[in-house]
Amino acid sequence: MNILLLNGPNLNMLGIREPDQYGTQTLGDIVSRISTLAIDAGLSIDHHQDNSEVGMIDKVHAASKNNTKYIIINPAAFTHTSVALRDAMLATGIAFTEVHLSNVYKREEFRKRSYFSDIAEGVISGFGAQGYEFALDAAIKYIKEH
Ligand code: DQA
Repeated sequence: MNILLLNGPNLNMLGIREPDQYGTQTLGDIVSRISTLAIDAGLSIDHHQDNSEVGMIDKVHAASKNNTKYIIINPAAFTHTSVALRDAMLATGIAFTEVHLSNVYKREEFRKRSYFSDIAEGVISGFGAQGYEFALDAAIKYIKEH
């Protein structure tokens, strides 16, 4: 797998979870679209969603051993809390894009702090499911250039 698409807690609830904030597409819809676009570009996606910090960290560690070239990550609530997941991203050194469906800067103060933005290649926030497509474009470009 060339690209790891990693989604954090509660994102398995997309489609029914706060649709005004996160839209009506399910995570399955999003993953299927991104996987198809990746295949069109000659790449493959390994998708993992986890409600636990441990599961996400283990998946990031595994990525460093299976030749993953890029990570697209929506750390969800762990964005604002997890030094441990940040450290895992630093430990593997794999380039990544941080994605949020909602515009975290338009919301509560605590959502404005991210443990990932300063070590990401870039951040996409507020474009709903389309944000994952933007992130995939960036990943394809990065992989071609490196
Ligand atoms: C989110 C934003 C986070 O603040 C929130 O905890 C989420 C989803 C987003 O995609 O907009 O679970 O990452």
